[in-house]
Amino acid sequence: MTNSCHICGLGSYVPPKILTNRDLEKLVDTSDEWIMSRTGIRQRHILDSGVNASDAALVAARAALTDAGVSAGELTHIFVATCSPDYFCPSTACLVAGRLGLSARSEGHGAHVMCMDFNAACSGFLYGLELARSALSLRPDAVVLLIGAEALSRRIDFSDRSTCVLFGDGAGAVVLRGAGTGCLWRVRDSVCCADGSMHDLIVMGGGSAMEVKKGDALPDDFFLAMQGREVFRQAVRSMTAESLAMLERHGMQVSDIDLFIAHQANLRIIEAVGSRLGIAEDKVFINVQDYANTSAATLPLALDDARSQGRLKPGMKVLLATFGGGITWGAALLG
Ligand SMILES: CC(C)(COP(=O)(O)OP(=O)(O)OC[C@H]1O[C@@H](n2cnc3c(N)ncnc32)[C@H](O)[C@@H]1OP(=O)(O)O)[C@@H](O)C(=O)NCCC(=O)NCCS
Repeated sequence: MTNSCHICGLGSYVPPKILTNRDLEKLVDTSDEWIMSRTGIRQRHILDSGVNASDAALVAARAALTDAGVSAGELTHIFVATCSPDYFCPSTACLVAGRLGLSARSEGHGAHVMCMDFNAACSGFLYGLELARSALSLRPDAVVLLIGAEALSRRIDFSDRSTCVLFGDGAGAVVLRGAGTGCLWRVRDSVCCADGSMHDLIVMGGGSAMEVKKGDALPDDFFLAMQGREVFRQAVRSMTAESLAMLERHGMQVSDIDLFIAHQANLRIIEAVGSRLGIAEDKVFINVQDYANTSAATLPLALDDARSQGRLKPGMKVLLATFGGGITWGAALLG
């Protein structure tokens, strides 16, 4: 695998509409105190009706392209990590490409771009880094746009207090290419893992296993369902183990890391992983309080947020860890 995979642009988007814990108190039997103490989440951003994952993806993508100084016409690959795509077909990636003006009907580069959605649930962004590394290994001049975009509020049952407090909508994007000017971080390594024997821990229906006929009422399993306690346990176990394995593989100590960014699902999960790693608290980036769990978007959103806050600078050594439905998990090393 090539070492020449670099992040050279970042962008993100969250919709303006905010749903606070107090708002949720009016919908279900919950409280700001319960949500804050169990999850650290204060608010989440929710897409307005008629605005979809692809719309959020497009704004994040444009910001990342501008940041990278790359024009849409230079892109060779658009990968969108999502478990809440606008449609099963066409892909969100194709929708983004179309709105970026990449068309066989136009002059020039047009349609020479591979567009694809993939679903690794909340682990999608790290799975996407691995895909980008593969693409650049096959084709060193590739210019890859990787987006994590979710409209999870469309698949949340807002009468189920055990899940509706946990998730939000948003998108984050990165542009990846080989070594060169303007590179912010080298993707030094990435590892992606899965254990399908635990597929029932997080389930969101709506696929072809759901045998609905026209006119049927929506079945309950259309919405996200989760075994929260076991998910919590597996998330802490797997993100800790893979982060330590990543450091060991590179002969690094935890103290060598400048910033640790874990999947932003729950403050208690992040703190538990941080404390098991023994990493200094000020090196652990947390923004779950503002966005809740935006699934595949959490990591690029956090990278962009960390940079805006001055916590993340080009060339810093960053350890990323993630966990999600499938179950899937992984880690990556930047810098
Ligand atoms: C969901 C989660 C916050 C629940 O916290 P918990 O301390 O494990 O709580 P439990 O599920 O054991 O539920 C405890 C009680 O709180 C109740 N409860 C659940 N959600 C509630 C809410 N929003 N408000 C108030 N009470 C709630 C439960 O009904 C239960 O009540 P009971 O004891 O009367 O049955 C926690 O399990 C978690 O964060 N899991 C991981 C979720 C996650 O991050 N998923 C995405 C991974 S990609």
